[in-house]
Amino acid sequence: MARRYVIAGNWKMNKTPAEAKALIEELKPMVAGKNGCDIVICVPYVDICTAVEATKGTNIKVGAENVHFAESGAYTGEISAKMLTECGVEYVIIGHSERRQYFAETDETVNLRTKAALAAGLKVILCVGEVKEQRLSGITDEVVSMQTKLDLADVSAEDMKNVIIAYEPVWAIGTGLTATPEQADETCGVIRATLAKMYGQDVADASIIQYGGSMNAKNAAELLAKENVDGGLIGGASLKAPDFTVIVDAAQ
Ligand code: PGA
Repeated sequence: MARRYVIAGNWKMNKTPAEAKALIEELKPMVAGKNGCDIVICVPYVDICTAVEATKGTNIKVGAENVHFAESGAYTGEISAKMLTECGVEYVIIGHSERRQYFAETDETVNLRTKAALAAGLKVILCVGEVKEQRLSGITDEVVSMQTKLDLADVSAEDMKNVIIAYEPVWAIGTGLTATPEQADETCGVIRATLAKMYGQDVADASIIQYGGSMNAKNAAELLAKENVDGGLIGGASLKAPDFTVIVDAAQ
């Protein structure tokens, strides 16, 4: 079953609009014509207009790093799905562990955000993953399977065409500790098996499941070679155009 790789950068809270423009201008020629995978950069809200403008006519797509679940209303500081699509955003990261950890997001709000984003026509990069204690206690499979089920509650099989799941072990994010290719493959496989139970084998086989957590220019090829790993969600290494390009190259 051939699945298309998706290589997505997660810039987190980095880059002003001027810095974003400079990074994109550096990246554009480096990844030009590399159409063997989808290339996405998920940027801070204030960089979105700059990023959409700078990537016009290129093979780089723009994503946001979060979205609110309501269409509009009294939610000071939040951004709706329609605001994003109207700006030219195509993807959105939802449920990143940093949102869960620092901003009190739960599987329930992650599910609401996912449904709102899909209804507005966005492609969702849904993050799941265990913390260190959970892996050490041997409950990784249960944790990612439970998150997958709760976060995708009431999402239809049809809508799954627009959902990418990013398996991000929390202990590997920004720590320089990467899951081994075997661990990444195994847990992405558990997520795929969960999708098979929820939606049937065809949907599971067609679903894109990324690995994220200290993926970099050195380890990307090994991770991407694994059967169940269909791309990467890349934090730190996405802020350096040459490093991000090596990862894109590994996915060609
Ligand atoms: P990292 O971040 O590549 O810097 O570990 C990945 C992520 O949080 O998406």
